[in-house]
Amino acid sequence: MIIVKVGGSVFSDKTGEPENFDHETVGNLAREIAQFYPGESFIIVHGGGSFGHPQAKEYRIREGLPGDWETAHHRRIGFTLTHQAMLRANANFIQTFVREGLPAFSVSTSSVFVTENGEVVYGDLEVLRRLLELEFIPVLFGDVSIDLAKGIDILSGDQIITYLAKMLEPEKVIFLMDVDGIYDGRPGEGGLIQNLGREEIDSLLERLHCTASGTDVTGGICNKLQEAKKIAEHSEVWFVNGKVPGRLSGAIRGDGFGTRIRS
Ligand code: IPE
Repeated sequence: MIIVKVGGSVFSDKTGEPENFDHETVGNLAREIAQFYPGESFIIVHGGGSFGHPQAKEYRIREGLPGDWETAHHRRIGFTLTHQAMLRANANFIQTFVREGLPAFSVSTSSVFVTENGEVVYGDLEVLRRLLELEFIPVLFGDVSIDLAKGIDILSGDQIITYLAKMLEPEKVIFLMDVDGIYDGRPGEGGLIQNLGREEIDSLLERLHCTASGTDVTGGICNKLQEAKKIAEHSEVWFVNGKVPGRLSGAIRGDGFGTRIRS
């Protein structure tokens, strides 16, 4: 089984109009997956991009539910609106995959996982396992979550993948991004790292100035690397450019262009 994360910046322009969706890129990704399915089974997890993030920010979902009723009520409305925006992104994915003949099936993240300070502490994978057995392609997404510590929070696609990798032990996890992989420095400045050992991740995190508090100076890469280190205990991890046709196929075959992390 292969888990593919489609980062928000791959299927949508975060700086563009709200809820813009790159049908061409997602169509290409679906066609590449169709070349390997059903010989290979897949779980897709997509991010928010221009869906979800604006509402999550506006309604301060990450701050949880406060005691004061009025503020909590406003935030409950935001929680619902953020989820609906993610459902619209998800509907675009399902439509595109089905058009390519793939039985993509929407699995609503917030109905499956419970978090504590944004990390998954409970996940009901029964339906997901059955869907895979029945040769569906489950499609999950970064979403809002019920949170044991804060009441409500956001659960990112990357966190979902860490949990799924631990529980399902896929042979490979592929992160699709809008750059060619992991760079030794900022994208475009440092060199692309094509091969990385799990044991080398800590020193890379230091070189990239990823602090323990998780301050992200290199466009999300610190968090991604931290998650990749956990995932690589179970699976091979790839970071490839999802905007360039053929790169996903290369990572699925195992001879592709991007960053490969050996477990
Ligand atoms: C974010 O998910 C989900 C919401 C804001 C509701 P991700 O964190 O996985 O999204 P991207 O890939 O960064 O856009």
